[in-house]
Amino acid sequence: MGQISACIFDLDGVVVDTAKYHYQAWKRLGKELNFDFSEDDNERLKGVSRMDSLNILLEIGNITLSEEDKLAYADKKNIWYKEFVMKMTPDEILPGVLDFFKELKDAGYKIALGSASKNAVAILEKLEIIDWFDVIIDGTKTKKAKPDPEVFLLGAKGLNIDPANCVVFEDAEAGVEAALNAEMYCVGIGSPKNLGKAHKVMPGLLNMNIEKLTF
Ligand code: BG6
Ligand code: MG
Repeated sequence: MGQISACIFDLDGVVVDTAKYHYQAWKRLGKELNFDFSEDDNERLKGVSRMDSLNILLEIGNITLSEEDKLAYADKKNIWYKEFVMKMTPDEILPGVLDFFKELKDAGYKIALGSASKNAVAILEKLEIIDWFDVIIDGTKTKKAKPDPEVFLLGAKGLNIDPANCVVFEDAEAGVEAALNAEMYCVGIGSPKNLGKAHKVMPGLLNMNIEKLTF
């Protein structure tokens, strides 16, 4: 096993539960387009980019739109989503995250963000945790979506650490695949049912510690 020296965290679903806000905003868009978007449908959007999420939503609603209209609807959804983001507070940081960050930093590990979201910086600022990150790779810096390894490889490059010495924390199946494609260790955050390919699966970061970073 490589010596772990950096942890790369996905944001949505690992550090904070934003899925409920994405859901409200997509549901509102569905309503405007005259169809219902269920919480079950929302599961399909975890880890998926904004435009790919819109395409899934439109497929569920059986709606065809021009590329121009799609961009306008994606913008509209994002405006609604940002209304929730702007109201976020540090109380929403998921249990265990801050303790783990502190332990990592005290022990000299590097921390990076590897997220598909173009709202990542705004969210980290609202949560008041942006300063914990040595490197931030988000949807504004990547060209290829997870499961492509780009986001995590850019993270390792920014940290100047070999991918083999990085661990990724991910809650989405495509994110776990992206980590494995980057030849990194991966801790799946959620259920082994859909994250079984990860090296380890944990329900959340509560009680996560450096000792558990053995693979
Ligand atoms: C991912 C979320 O982290 O970011 C997805 O899991 C979301 O649900 C994607 O669609 C893109 O986010 P944003 O904030 O750029 O619309
Ligand atoms: Mg996620």
